[in-house]
Amino acid sequence: MLLGVNIDHVATLRNARGGVEPDTIKAAEICELNGATSITTHLREDRRHIKDNDVKTLIHTLRTNLNLEMAVTDEMQKIALEIKPHSVCLVPEKRQEITTEGGLDVAGQIDKITDFIKPLKEAGILVSLFIDPTEEQVKASAKSGAQFIEMHTGQYSEKFGTNEEEKEFLKLKNSAALAQSLGLKVNAGHGLNYNNVHRMHEIPDLYELNIGHSIISRAIFVGLPQAVQEMKDLVK
Ligand code: PXP
Repeated sequence: MLLGVNIDHVATLRNARGGVEPDTIKAAEICELNGATSITTHLREDRRHIKDNDVKTLIHTLRTNLNLEMAVTDEMQKIALEIKPHSVCLVPEKRQEITTEGGLDVAGQIDKITDFIKPLKEAGILVSLFIDPTEEQVKASAKSGAQFIEMHTGQYSEKFGTNEEEKEFLKLKNSAALAQSLGLKVNAGHGLNYNNVHRMHEIPDLYELNIGHSIISRAIFVGLPQAVQEMKDLVK
């Protein structure tokens, strides 16, 4: 499995003081040097962490791939077509949420998503859909023309260690198998940490995990190089 590191919360810390520290570009470089196979940033509508300039600089400085998380809006589509990241991951976005709360409802807006994806694919950008692990969303994602799904592991992570863990885990395992049978590549992410990530190895052929908060949090205690390396050891 590959490890994509989400560096949004380096920007959260920077923005707390409004200056330039910690430097997101340097953070991305350290993540890459210590095992990240891609760097993810979520350019939110309200620019609460990552800002346009971060993304515009990263596209030139990264040695690996930029995975741009974004909402299904005209503004974001325009930005993606301008900067041409390696991949985009389409996510739902609510202004009031602390983090991405649920998956994208692809089934409920299949025509809109299909149309939205087309120019991105034509520009050579890989498209991933961040969805809840359900049969309905997986089937709709396959229909939409996206090449990847990213399964929302938030519920699994939340229920980890409780008697609901198995139920949530099986949703991920079954959805991955269905998606792969329909020709999709499967990523996963949200809420994964150093304790719960190991079960992702029980899901055959997961392509990449996208992990942010736990790595950046651990970096405060052990430094970013070690935090990334420790996660890389658990993921690879
Ligand atoms: N994948 C997606 C689509 C996300 O929205 C997020 C959170 O920004 C992540 C992965 C990473 O989640 P976490 O920060 O909990 O590791």
